[in-house]
Amino acid sequence: MFILGGTSAASLAAALSHSLNQPLVKTTFKRFPDDEFYVRIEEPIEGQDVLIVQTAYPDSKIIELLIMQDAVCEAGAKRISVILPYFGYSRQDKKFEDGEAISARAIAEHISIHADEVITVDPHKERILDFFTTPARSCSAVPQIAEYLKGKDIDLVLAPDMGAKDRAEQAAALIGCVSDYLEKTRIDGATVKIHPKSLDVQGKTVAIVDDIISTGGTMATSVKELRHQGAKKVYVACTHGLFAGQAKERLTAAGVDEIIATDTIESEFSKVSVAPCLAPLLVHLA
Ligand code: R5P
Repeated sequence: MFILGGTSAASLAAALSHSLNQPLVKTTFKRFPDDEFYVRIEEPIEGQDVLIVQTAYPDSKIIELLIMQDAVCEAGAKRISVILPYFGYSRQDKKFEDGEAISARAIAEHISIHADEVITVDPHKERILDFFTTPARSCSAVPQIAEYLKGKDIDLVLAPDMGAKDRAEQAAALIGCVSDYLEKTRIDGATVKIHPKSLDVQGKTVAIVDDIISTGGTMATSVKELRHQGAKKVYVACTHGLFAGQAKERLTAAGVDEIIATDTIESEFSKVSVAPCLAPLLVHLA
């Protein structure tokens, strides 16, 4: 098997190459003067299984993925597995209003064209896997996030909304503490309202766990509420750290003690690797 690490997941591809003991395929990437993407596979992969690792975010990385898939197919790979550490557009998984696109389906269908299987990490909703027209699976980074938080004397794991409740419960069980959830109403893309809920957080260390931090609005509002209720320390942890716009500044201003994300999207907050979650799903190819 060969592993092709795209430009949005080079470190994760290297980590998978190491843990599966399989080589990275030599590849040239460049951009033409007009910014169009170019890829060339630099060694024979005919008849081989190839694993392409590329986070599908932002938009330019989706185009890169489609072009890499085409190159691998043209080079005669026997089987193409696509690892999407983060699947962008997964939150637009239905029409919320008439006239909208089902963006997650549109992207999934295109990725499926040259993929024998797709594997992603903590999709926003599991049902988006059904949008792929090729077999699709997911794994969870929660055990790795919980492992990181174990050293932080966490008293309570909180979900910022009902949708993240199961994730918080799972993390709390692994850490060995209790969990609860907040109630959130989204006002617009960057603003949320957290309904104050009386929590016993006075003098406690709390970790808020979610799948995505985008604008940081959800986490920043939650951190403020917990600080208001007397929490001693507040950690925020997510699988996919998009950190759009002023997210880091918003979180810092809200009084967060530490921001933790995984390497599905590489950033200064990628303190947890998802390689150990993905590797067991790939050993059959090694
Ligand atoms: C929403 O349902 C997700 O689980 C996240 O809570 C959301 O995407 C976070 O977005 P933001 O950081 O912009 O509040």
